[in-house]
Amino acid sequence: MQLQRLLTLAAVLQGALAAHRSRPKKTLEAASLFKAAANPQSPLPIIQLYKPVSAPQSSSCNVQQTLMVHTFASSYGVPYVGQYIPPGCDFNNVVIEWTVTSAGRQFDRLAEMYLGDIEVWRTSTAEPTASGIIFRYEKDLSMYLSLWKSPQQLIFSLNNVYDNIYTGAFNTTLKAIFSYNPAKPAHADLILPITPQLGSAGQPSIFTLPGDSASVQQTLPQNVSHATVSIAATGQSNEEFWYTNVLQSDINDFNSTVGSLLGFGPFREVQLFIDDMMAGVAWPFPIVFAGGIAPGFWRPAVGIDAYDLREYEIDITPFLPYLLDGKSHAFSIRVVGMDDNGGNGAATLSTSSINSYWLVSGKILLFYGEDSYNGTHAAPTISTSPIIQATSRVDRTSNGTISSLSYSVSAKRSFSVKSSYGSWTQSLDYSNQGLVGQAGLFTSNIQRTVGNQAAVVNSAPGFSNTLSFTYPITANLTYKSADFTQFNTSIDYGLQISSSGRPDLSTFTLVTGHMDLSERQFGDAFYSNVPNNSFSYGIMDRRFQELSYGIPYSRHIKTNT
Ligand SMILES: *[C@@H]1O[C@H](CO)[C@@H](O)[C@H](O)[C@H]1NC(C)=O
Ligand SMILES: *[C@@H]1O[C@H](CO)[C@@H](O)[C@H](O)[C@H]1NC(C)=O
Ligand SMILES: *[C@@H]1O[C@H](CO)[C@@H](O)[C@H](O)[C@H]1NC(C)=O
Ligand SMILES: *[C@@H]1O[C@H](CO)[C@@H](O)[C@H](O)[C@H]1NC(C)=O
Ligand SMILES: *[C@@H]1O[C@H](CO)[C@@H](O)[C@H](O)[C@H]1NC(C)=O
Ligand SMILES: *[C@@H]1O[C@H](CO)[C@@H](O)[C@H](O)[C@H]1NC(C)=O
Ligand SMILES: *[C@@H]1O[C@H](CO)[C@@H](O)[C@H](O)[C@H]1NC(C)=O
Ligand SMILES: *[C@@H]1O[C@H](CO)[C@@H](O)[C@H](O)[C@H]1NC(C)=O
Repeated sequence: MQLQRLLTLAAVLQGALAAHRSRPKKTLEAASLFKAAANPQSPLPIIQLYKPVSAPQSSSCNVQQTLMVHTFASSYGVPYVGQYIPPGCDFNNVVIEWTVTSAGRQFDRLAEMYLGDIEVWRTSTAEPTASGIIFRYEKDLSMYLSLWKSPQQLIFSLNNVYDNIYTGAFNTTLKAIFSYNPAKPAHADLILPITPQLGSAGQPSIFTLPGDSASVQQTLPQNVSHATVSIAATGQSNEEFWYTNVLQSDINDFNSTVGSLLGFGPFREVQLFIDDMMAGVAWPFPIVFAGGIAPGFWRPAVGIDAYDLREYEIDITPFLPYLLDGKSHAFSIRVVGMDDNGGNGAATLSTSSINSYWLVSGKILLFYGEDSYNGTHAAPTISTSPIIQATSRVDRTSNGTISSLSYSVSAKRSFSVKSSYGSWTQSLDYSNQGLVGQAGLFTSNIQRTVGNQAAVVNSAPGFSNTLSFTYPITANLTYKSADFTQFNTSIDYGLQISSSGRPDLSTFTLVTGHMDLSERQFGDAFYSNVPNNSFSYGIMDRRFQELSYGIPYSRHIKTNT
């Protein structure tokens, strides 16, 4: 079954929005400018390309519950809080469906869903039009079955600002379909939070870095046979476009023309520590939200993963002999950026070298085995070698003013941890070529991230798996003038994943078992917020191909707004 569709959509866009950003790196996110109104009665659907999720057909259990009907208007710091009660039938499959309508002027907004202290889904919204949009996303959340089996505090956070300028509220409905999958996919028996654990206070359990210490103490039961940690990590505000940041030593190169730039380099690493030992890392995917760079790119289809931010998985089975001692251990998440090295060769990474801010949370997914084990408390063998290199060069005009900055960053990390329980290995490769030209009016970043990972799980060989991924991104932007009111921009980015798969549902591949994914989106957009004449339009070519559950699915869409 191969689906191939080609859509061409056009919309006339007119709008008005006061300038809300002044510095170049900060104009990269813009609130919606669109007044599009082909038919004012029917809201414009805004889609994300993804393979549809299907709930298994079962006669024994098929229950739909409405988990939330809620309008997020002035909802900054005011999440939805509800009580979830499991349905009465024997279910092992849970698919949620979120439907959102909005009209007015608004930014894209990040949102998270929690069961108690554990974040189970991180998403973001499309930007509304004056006449209204609608979007819907379905997600398989069966990996959290052990949470769904008990009553839970359901917390949904969508921090929105709603006032005279930002007039878009989000009307949302969240449903869950509970059913029985005769294939009985595996699921974690116990899920422990790496979060601030604020569920009982009706608050989202999420850390903000830098600032918070994203560290918790957890004691594992002694009959665990294998375990993974899943981490959600998203750059926001001055870290939203971290892959375009310059080296710290260059942030003032264009002071006299465009002001200071965002620093700490274009490389970020998310790290997991168990006590004082590194347990693995994740090199984040450059998520671009629905208002990211230029809104004209992202209508009527948002960018890769905007409705479903993948989490990063680290197999911690090799740590079990160390962890199964009946005592509590610290699980910590760090985000590190590049220390200032003057653009001069080897660089180091640290938690103080990031801007504000990253939102992170994690969970430990534990699988019980037959036997109880009294750990020897022997630490696993860990080997790692990060190599970060940075160069930077400026060109000057005859009077000494800097006309252009070229910089490059490359990074490699080999990581391995081994014990009698198994091994976890990662081999990661990264490069970024940055250019700030025309005295600050032109910026270009060409980045590539490649990874190969493998888990060997001795007690449950079916959970041994390999994963490889590549995510390249090229983003260029040319301002018309130093008032930053108009720019042309191009983007070309993609995501390829090849996973041998595991018997449980992965928080990274979003499926059970083997999966191949190939996505690419590229195009050009123009943005203008000249007073009384604000608009953004773009052309995009989007390709999506996924093979999962033995069934291929593909789409190819060209949009022209
Ligand atoms: C949102 O809900 C409110 C209250 O029911 C309604 O007045 C409004 O029209 C809805 N907006 C959209 C965009 O659906
Ligand atoms: C494993 O240990 C937990 C916690 O002590 C217990 O609740 C569970 O029943 C045990 N499971 C098995 C399969 O032994
Ligand atoms: C650039 O601007 C910043 C912030 O205004 C200031 O602290 C810094 O001294 C300036 N640097 C140069 C080289 O002008
Ligand atoms: C493991 O520890 C428990 C509690 O300390 C003890 O009762 C048990 O005998 C130990 N088992 C083994 C195999 O050493
Ligand atoms: C330096 O030269 C550039 C172009 O050659 C010009 O745009 C700029 O205004 C000059 N700056 C000063 C301070 O003279
Ligand atoms: C982006 O800019 C780089 C550097 O100037 C250039 O090599 C590349 O062709 C540009 N890409 C696009 C799509 O404009
Ligand atoms: C921006 O793109 C428009 C066409 O959309 C073109 O007319 C204009 O020359 C471009 N400007 C720059 C600075 O590249
Ligand atoms: C923008 O439009 C408003 C109302 O239509 C008008 O009062 C104002 O002068 C206009 N501003 C500019 C810069 O044209």
